[in-house]
Amino acid sequence: MNAMNPDKANSPRIVTIDVLRYRPEQESTPTWQSYEVPCCEEWTVLDALNHIKDHLDGSLSYRWSCHMAVCGSCGMMINGNPTLSCKAFMRDLPDQIKVEPLANLGVIRDLVVQQNRLVDGMAAVKSWLIPRELPPRDDQYRQTPAQLAKYRPLSMCINCMLCYAACPQVALNEGYLGPAALALAQDDGVWECTFIGECSEVCPKHVDPAGAIQQMKLASSLQWLARRIPGGGS
Ligand code: SF4
Ligand code: FES
Repeated sequence: MNAMNPDKANSPRIVTIDVLRYRPEQESTPTWQSYEVPCCEEWTVLDALNHIKDHLDGSLSYRWSCHMAVCGSCGMMINGNPTLSCKAFMRDLPDQIKVEPLANLGVIRDLVVQQNRLVDGMAAVKSWLIPRELPPRDDQYRQTPAQLAKYRPLSMCINCMLCYAACPQVALNEGYLGPAALALAQDDGVWECTFIGECSEVCPKHVDPAGAIQQMKLASSLQWLARRIPGGGS
């Protein structure tokens, strides 16, 4: 009989959580700190960090809010991979876990990173819908189902910045706007994307920024071509 022993399933497992800490007032470079945490299998890494914060070390800093993969604030490197900590379950992880701040973004404190790269990028590309004309008086802006279907996947972005931590261009090029912002851009900046595709791999919301950027390159190329063919474009 394969029935799971409920006592075993519910009994905590001791997991060693190594956290890369940075407290600017007391250390000039980040240092590792280990915590032994009794974890239930249905816990997430965020639950384990909350246990550390509540019971072992109240000085640990990290962001979170919703605990349900909606707010986008709990991103961190977990065993080297950009991950939402509220979506990383203990049952899928080994007895030793390394937790670091998201890569490619400046660290403010412990697991708290700077968000200006994404915020500035979104502002630069005007990541909101801008209608070509005002709606008729007393009417509202309308979208066709086809227009909505095109925009909807991009609207699922929760600004978690996992794609920034996975992108080699973000690491190499300070001026690069980044995958989430470029997925909503019209043209500028998309050609710097080298289509490694890691951004889409790590995205927890299946936004597929790499695909959106490649489609933009294609649309931009077709427009360029049309402008050079007599009668092909205005
Ligand atoms: S595109 Fe995906 S990975 Fe990037 S910020 Fe949006 S939700 Fe996060
Ligand atoms: S806590 Fe909101 S996405 Fe993880």
